[in-house]
Amino acid sequence: MTTDTVKNEPLATEDAETASALLDVRDLHVSYRQGGRTVPAVRGVSFSLAPGDTLGIAGESGCGKSTMALGLLRLHGAKAQVSGEVLFRGEDLLTTTWSRLRAVRWAGASVVFQGAMSALNPVRTVLEQIVEPIVLHDKVSAKEAERRAAELLDSVGIPSRRMRSYPHEFSGGQRQRVMIAMALACRPDLIIADEPTTALDVMVQAQILELLAELVRESRIAVIMITHDLSLLAHTCDRLAVMYAGRIVELGPSRQVLDSPKHPYTRALSRAFPTIGDPASRLAPAGLAGDPPRPSEVGDGCAFAARCSEVTEACRTGEMLLWPAGPGRSAACLRVRPDHGGTS
Ligand SMILES: Nc1ncnc2c1ncn2[C@@H]1O[C@H](COP(=O)(O)OP(=O)(O)OP(=O)(O)O)[C@@H](O)[C@H]1O
Ligand SMILES: [Mg+2]
Repeated sequence: MTTDTVKNEPLATEDAETASALLDVRDLHVSYRQGGRTVPAVRGVSFSLAPGDTLGIAGESGCGKSTMALGLLRLHGAKAQVSGEVLFRGEDLLTTTWSRLRAVRWAGASVVFQGAMSALNPVRTVLEQIVEPIVLHDKVSAKEAERRAAELLDSVGIPSRRMRSYPHEFSGGQRQRVMIAMALACRPDLIIADEPTTALDVMVQAQILELLAELVRESRIAVIMITHDLSLLAHTCDRLAVMYAGRIVELGPSRQVLDSPKHPYTRALSRAFPTIGDPASRLAPAGLAGDPPRPSEVGDGCAFAARCSEVTEACRTGEMLLWPAGPGRSAACLRVRPDHGGTS
């Protein structure tokens, strides 16, 4: 069997859910072209989100979280090959026109990435930067847009007297709050936040993720939140997807995934990140020996087999699917395969 035959397909039981999904990702693959080779960084990811759903994505560095997030909105450079389907309100973002895609990026699904300083324009006040998309997209007067911008900034804890300040006049945490306000400006249905707080100190990180979670809860915006911190994700998101070597290996309600993981990788990961926001643990998680395989090294069977304390011979060659593992849960481990006897 080659790695190409290893599947990570949506479960048949999810068909009813996907029909009403805001976002339905089906068998997403993203490969980078590197020195004449094709490196598969995301290898068949499928999941769906209903309006208002919050999904946390966890996994060690290099597991393909950012590549997956960028792939959803075709934000990769020309070096990446993307295939599969990304249905956003039923429209496939991987095949739609660039002008439709721009419209979706503008008002349907916004992204918040790390590094607010580089994303904000240094020579324009934060007010101007939030007003502009509101005026352009919602076709309201400058005065009305200003009122909405003030409200948004207030909701992220930036007082209106500071609206006419420039980005460099704010702290890192405040700038990240401004980015969140900008992401909310055109009332998107989905926010994709990829490590929006990694550069900030631990307390500010937790506050900002809480704030984002609260804002999306209030407005029923769906969110995909990526951080390396499993416990923080479990606290702020309803569901968790754990990625390993370019695939989702476990998916389910956050608390259950954290409290009773079905996949040995999730178990190792939850032990490895006992505290909130320890940046060092991201690259070398405590108690998880070895490294994830590089995309070019992934072979047959389970990609985690080489590091797994529960590995069996079958894991090295078996076909890995995301098998049902209880209500709303799935895991790509032979131990949960229906005919295995259910030892997990
Ligand atoms: N532009 C690129 N060109 C080639 N390979 C890339 C590129 N970006 C990422 N990769 C590779 O793809 C794999 C997945 O990277 P990605 O950045 O998606 O991981 P991640 O899970 O977001 O990691 P982190 O937690 O460090 O942000 C890695 O092996 C990485 O080296
Ligand atoms: Mg990343």
